[in-house]
Amino acid sequence: MVDPTHESSQNAGKPGRARQRILEGIVTTVNEDGTTNISPMGATIDETMSHFVLRPYQTSTTFRNLGRLGEGVLHVTDDVELLARAAVGQVVAQVSDASDPRRRILTDTCRWYVFQVTELDSQQARTNIGCQVVDQGHRREFFGFNRAKHAVVEAAILATRVGILDDEQIRNELCRLSILVEKTGGDSEHRAFDFLVQHVADKIGLE
Ligand SMILES: Cc1cc2nc3c(=O)[nH]c(=O)nc-3n(C[C@H](O)[C@H](O)[C@H](O)COP(=O)(O)O)c2cc1C
Repeated sequence: MVDPTHESSQNAGKPGRARQRILEGIVTTVNEDGTTNISPMGATIDETMSHFVLRPYQTSTTFRNLGRLGEGVLHVTDDVELLARAAVGQVVAQVSDASDPRRRILTDTCRWYVFQVTELDSQQARTNIGCQVVDQGHRREFFGFNRAKHAVVEAAILATRVGILDDEQIRNELCRLSILVEKTGGDSEHRAFDFLVQHVADKIGLE
């Protein structure tokens, strides 16, 4: 298991209630200077894909932008290189020329969901933001299950938890995940994973 703070705490201690499923997506929002912020975020969502809850930390740019503008775009993608780079704030991604400048839709996404904030609870460090989908689209097919892609998602979460999780735990997890990338990954999964390993190595070393 990796960072427990990224797991749903909404299921805990509630026997008999439907379990909440988290979709690991990428959220774009508009920064104060008009540039695009791109950030992986878990969305608690059901199959209707009509509304969901985001839980950004108050320290995140996503939280600040959503609080200021009340809208953004959730993307479903299998582009793990983009996810890896966005997780540590080193992203070069293209957004489409939208007729509405507030909509920053990633060019290489499978599906996108423009949303508006309906509720914002910032009582805790990790906030709860209710979102209503107001427009959506499909660009290309999702690749499908791949262990290396999932390993990159886990590695990206680890990379965002440097300084919070134990260093040794992060190194051990990366070592375990590297086997999955080696066995089942293509070029893009290898590039994404190597990028994250280098990022972590720069911060805490890998011995
Ligand atoms: C798969 C994945 C899911 C994540 N989910 C969340 C989340 O739900 N809330 C959060 O605050 N950070 C989450 N993170 C970490 C943020 O993406 C990361 O801290 C990012 O740097 C925040 O960017 P921002 O400050 O530009 O919004 C997630 C990271 C990954 C890789």
